[in-house]
Amino acid sequence: MRVFSGWRRFLFCLPLIFFLPHLFSVMELHQNSNVEYPQKKHSKKVDHLVLGPAAGQGLPNRLQCEGIKALNKSFFSHISRGGENIAFVTVFAIYNSSPNIHVDDKSDLVIVGNTSYSKVERSMAILNVFIDFIQTTMPQSNIIILTDPASDLQMRRNRVAFHPIQGEYSRDRLMLQRIRSYIAFLETRLEELSHNKGHITHYIFTDSDVAMVNDLGQIFRDYPNFHLALTFRNNKAQPLNSGFIAVRGTPDGILRAKVFLQEVLKVYSSKYMSASRMLGDQLALAWVIKSDPSFDTTKFTKPQAFLEKIGGASVLFLPCAIYNWTPPEGAGQFHGMPLDVKVVHFKGSRKRLMLESWNFFNSSGNMSDMLCLILSSGRTKYDF
Ligand SMILES: *[C@@H]1O[C@H](CO)[C@@H](O)[C@H](O)[C@H]1NC(C)=O
Ligand SMILES: *[C@@H]1O[C@H](CO)[C@@H](O)[C@H](O)[C@H]1NC(C)=O
Ligand SMILES: *[C@@H]1O[C@H](CO)[C@@H](O)[C@H](O)[C@H]1NC(C)=O
Ligand SMILES: *[C@@H]1O[C@H](CO)[C@@H](O)[C@H](O)[C@H]1NC(C)=O
Repeated sequence: MRVFSGWRRFLFCLPLIFFLPHLFSVMELHQNSNVEYPQKKHSKKVDHLVLGPAAGQGLPNRLQCEGIKALNKSFFSHISRGGENIAFVTVFAIYNSSPNIHVDDKSDLVIVGNTSYSKVERSMAILNVFIDFIQTTMPQSNIIILTDPASDLQMRRNRVAFHPIQGEYSRDRLMLQRIRSYIAFLETRLEELSHNKGHITHYIFTDSDVAMVNDLGQIFRDYPNFHLALTFRNNKAQPLNSGFIAVRGTPDGILRAKVFLQEVLKVYSSKYMSASRMLGDQLALAWVIKSDPSFDTTKFTKPQAFLEKIGGASVLFLPCAIYNWTPPEGAGQFHGMPLDVKVVHFKGSRKRLMLESWNFFNSSGNMSDMLCLILSSGRTKYDF
């Protein structure tokens, strides 16, 4: 099997899909001798959970933890029927035939819980856990996977559909292709809506290395006037993260989101091609927003949602702290985890933590405790 060479680099934005039966085994964290408490000097890449102090202790409205026991309950509740009229959309591709990578290369196996994974399997496991979380917190939602028609993807899961989109999915072009795929997808929805009026589905475009830990349907209800929503953080160079884009499913919302993304694509292609591997889309996104003369960038300094007209679109800006929370390395780390966090993003070398977190949740059934696990473990750089 081959994933694009150098897959590790873009995996954080584009994990892969799978067709294996569920591979996870239950992890009994509390009895697991593999858990380590840090002693300062371990090597950079860690192949087991490492727990440290939780950030944000003593701060109001932040999750309070005692080890991995949560002192606050998360707002998530199992009886929720969340996700009605919502579809999650992610881009994902995998290639089976390649002379370059040997499937049975054991040197690269990693073990999570009781299961070992090759590179391809671990990518598929991440996608699977992405789906698991969504189906836990928003069981009524659907998941749409945009993929290269040449990709060998097979997967059967309830409420998961594939949507092949022709394009150039090479490593160098991936982030560019992702925007193109989003635009192409929105075009098909517009076309469909023109025949089939009435039923509205809202779309949330995300990376697949994220865990939806609470119902997101409330965005569309609480903020009835936006066409598309982006997540922001207080970071001058890169205030916007492209890993989460919500689009209202009305014809107007879809049309304006499409036009907005076309503008981002134009800026990307003309100004940021040298950054096309990784960050070009975020730079282009920021450029489009900041080039609006009335836009006040000081709004990015406070983690509060706000609405702005950009071009013809009403854009809702949502704080990363709640809608795109990243484990403690990055923005928001010193402030801990908001009690109402909804999306956790396992950027960079935190894919292991994503799988471990799901295993923990699946065996304990306790989302709040799982959030404490993430909060106290996220400072670690893992082996994948
Ligand atoms: C979750 O746990 C159940 C048993 O409680 C097990 O059957 C199932 O395979 C687990 N799923 C995952 C994804 O680990
Ligand atoms: C996983 O391994 C642990 C210890 O090695 C064992 O106690 C546990 O039963 C195993 N779990 C499963 C689901 O196989
Ligand atoms: C989760 O654990 C916390 C304490 O760690 C407890 O207060 C809460 O009731 C538990 N929730 C569930 C759903 O078991
Ligand atoms: C969270 O738990 C802590 C410790 O029990 C408590 O002091 C705090 O008031 C709780 N916060 C909320 C918002 O419930």
